[in-house]
Amino acid sequence: TKKIILDCDSGHDDALALLLAVASPEIELKAVTTSAGNQTPEKTLNNAMRTLQLLGQTQIPVAGGNQTPLVKELETAGNVHGESGLDGAELPTPTFEVQPMTAIELMAKVLRESDEDEKVTLVVTGPMTNAALFLRVYPDLAKEKLAQIVFMGGAMGLGNWTPSVEFNIFVDPEAAKIVLNAGIPLVMAPLNVTHQAQILEDEIKQVGQIDNEVAKAFHGLLEFFGIYHKDPKWGFDGAPLHDPCTIAWLIDETLFETKRMNVDVETTGELTRGETICDYYELTGKEKNTEVMLGIDRPRFIQLIMDSLRSFG
Ligand code: BDR
Ligand code: CA
Repeated sequence: TKKIILDCDSGHDDALALLLAVASPEIELKAVTTSAGNQTPEKTLNNAMRTLQLLGQTQIPVAGGNQTPLVKELETAGNVHGESGLDGAELPTPTFEVQPMTAIELMAKVLRESDEDEKVTLVVTGPMTNAALFLRVYPDLAKEKLAQIVFMGGAMGLGNWTPSVEFNIFVDPEAAKIVLNAGIPLVMAPLNVTHQAQILEDEIKQVGQIDNEVAKAFHGLLEFFGIYHKDPKWGFDGAPLHDPCTIAWLIDETLFETKRMNVDVETTGELTRGETICDYYELTGKEKNTEVMLGIDRPRFIQLIMDSLRSFG
């Protein structure tokens, strides 16, 4: 099994990533930490806890992260995820307490408690603020105990928030710069792959037919998440399941095609602040620091999602 910490800004697709992690026997979810992004830090923390309550995983430690990005003002995505950050379903009120520590303290605790020969993977499905702070505050612990960072963010030549910038990197480009240049092995799920990872409308309907409380709630969430992506400008047939690509990769790498390359972030561009610069053709000669997902076996990915939802029956 793979030990992971999930740092998320829950978020509809973040919630589905959490579900995949909880449902998979391949994954041991050691902790959940939350970042400001899709909504305010208070809301994303509450959403992560409500999701864990729904999934019956109240024993998993949860801690809230930084209140703002490192440099920029926080910009949220209520237009995509709603006023709560997780609109579309009634989720249960948490009956457990948040950990009395910050996100990076909880990350450090999990790493310290893990054996040397069993390194921990940090999965980031929101802005990289907490990950960057962790690497800056605990660099030795990260080098010693972190296996890799698997993240959803960025794109190669695409944007979903500005013409060339993906939302997670847009929110905190300086944090992404720190993470991408930290020398920790990286795996990236960019928009190029997550836009192929669509759940189609009739598949969302099938989720509604799965007979358990978890699937019922996720049906409502997916229907809400689908609304924003129905705009014909995207050219989608469904809703892109960005964040679950990270966990799906950890469960079964054969679902994806990847290519290793150097990835860095533009932090000063007049029009491109937050753009990920992916050196596909090895033009810089810089170290190939990132394994970039570029293709996905969509039918098998959706099968994994359906099976995971059914496992709560
Ligand atoms: C990313 O932005 C968020 O709205 C989603 O949860 C995902 O992590 C996609 O750009
Ligand atoms: Ca997210």
